[in-house]
Amino acid sequence: MPTSTDVAAFDRRYERLRKSIDAKATAAYRRRKPVSLYEPAVYAMKGGGKRVRPVVTLLAAEAVGGRAEDATDAAIALEALHNFTLVHDDIMDNSAMRRGVPTVHKKYDVATAVLVGDAMLAVSYEFMLRVEGERGARAARAFNRGLVEVCEGQGLDKEFETRDDVTLREYIGMIGKKTAALLEACCRVGAIIGGGTDGEVEALADYGVNLGLAFQIQDDYLDLFGDEKFGKPIGGDLREGKKTYLLLSALKRAAGSDKKRLERIAHKGGAAKKDIPAIRKLYESLGVPEDAGRAVRRYTNKALASLDALSREDGRENFAQLANRLLDRNA
Ligand code: IPE
Ligand code: IPE
Ligand code: MG
Ligand code: MG
Ligand code: MG
Repeated sequence: MPTSTDVAAFDRRYERLRKSIDAKATAAYRRRKPVSLYEPAVYAMKGGGKRVRPVVTLLAAEAVGGRAEDATDAAIALEALHNFTLVHDDIMDNSAMRRGVPTVHKKYDVATAVLVGDAMLAVSYEFMLRVEGERGARAARAFNRGLVEVCEGQGLDKEFETRDDVTLREYIGMIGKKTAALLEACCRVGAIIGGGTDGEVEALADYGVNLGLAFQIQDDYLDLFGDEKFGKPIGGDLREGKKTYLLLSALKRAAGSDKKRLERIAHKGGAAKKDIPAIRKLYESLGVPEDAGRAVRRYTNKALASLDALSREDGRENFAQLANRLLDRNA
C-alpha cells in the first residue's frame, strides 16, 4: 500500500510532467501561420487537460529502464493525437463545452474545427516521426494502430446511438477501441522507446488497455454524476442516446414501467434535457452508480495485476499510483 508521502511525491511528479508537456504541446502550434488555423489549435490544446496520455508515455519509458526525456516527442505526439480526437468528438457528440470553455466548433465554427483536428493530427505525426531508428519505426506502428482503433471505436459509438440492443460485451469492445486503444498505444510507445523487452511492452500494453476501460467507465459515470464545474455539461450522453455503461447497467436492472422508460430512451436515441434529473434518480434507485464503481475497480485491479510482470519496483509503483489517482478523479 502506498503511504501518503508516496502519494504526495507522485502527485508532485505528475504535476511537473503535466506542466512540461502543457508548455511544449501548446508551443508546437505557436508562430505557425495562418493564424486562423493555429490560434484555434492553441485554443484546443489549452484549458486544463489532465495530460494523462503523455504522462503515461513518459512513465512507460522510465518503467523499463529508459529515460523519460527520450520519449518527450512521442508524448507530445500522443497528446496532440488525443486533442485532435476531442475536437472531432465534440462535433460528433454535439458537445458545447469542454474543459470549462466552449468547444472549438462552438467558439469558431464546424469547418474550422474539422480543419484544426486534421492539422493537429498532422502535427502529431510530425512529432512522432522525430523518433529515429528501429525503435522509432516500431513506436510509429503502435501509434498508428492506436489511431485506427480509435476511429473504429468512434464509429461503433455513433452506430450504437441508434441501436437498442447493444450488449455489455459490445460496449466493452467499443470502449476498448475508442479509449483504451490510445492508452495502450501510450504504454507501447513509451516502453518501446525506453528499450523494454517484448514481455515488458506487452505487460504495459495490458495495463494500458485495462486502465483505459476503467477510465472510460469512470468518464461515463462523471457524465451524469460528476460536477459541471469540471468542464463538461451534465447528461450529454443521455441526450445523445449514448450506450454508456450506466444506461446498459440500468436496462439490466430495471423492471416494469422503469424499464419501458429506459428502453424508450435507448430506442429513440436520446432523452430530453428536462428528463435528466429524473433519470439520474432512477439510476440511483437501481444502484447503477455503485455498479459502475465496481466495474471501474475491477478493470483497475486488472491493470494493477499486469504490473507484476515488470521487474523495476519504481515502475510498478508509479503506475499503481497513477491507476489509483485516476480511480478517484472527478474530471
Ligand atoms: C476525454 O479524455 C475523452 C475520453 C477518452 C473519456 P480526458 O478525460 O483525458 O480529457 P482531458 O484531456 O483531461 O481534458
Ligand atoms: C471519448 O468518448 C472518446 C474519444 C474522444 C476518442 P466521450 O465522447 O465519452 O469523451 P468526452 O466525454 O466527450 O470527453
Ligand atoms: Mg464521444
Ligand atoms: Mg464526447
Ligand atoms: Mg464522455
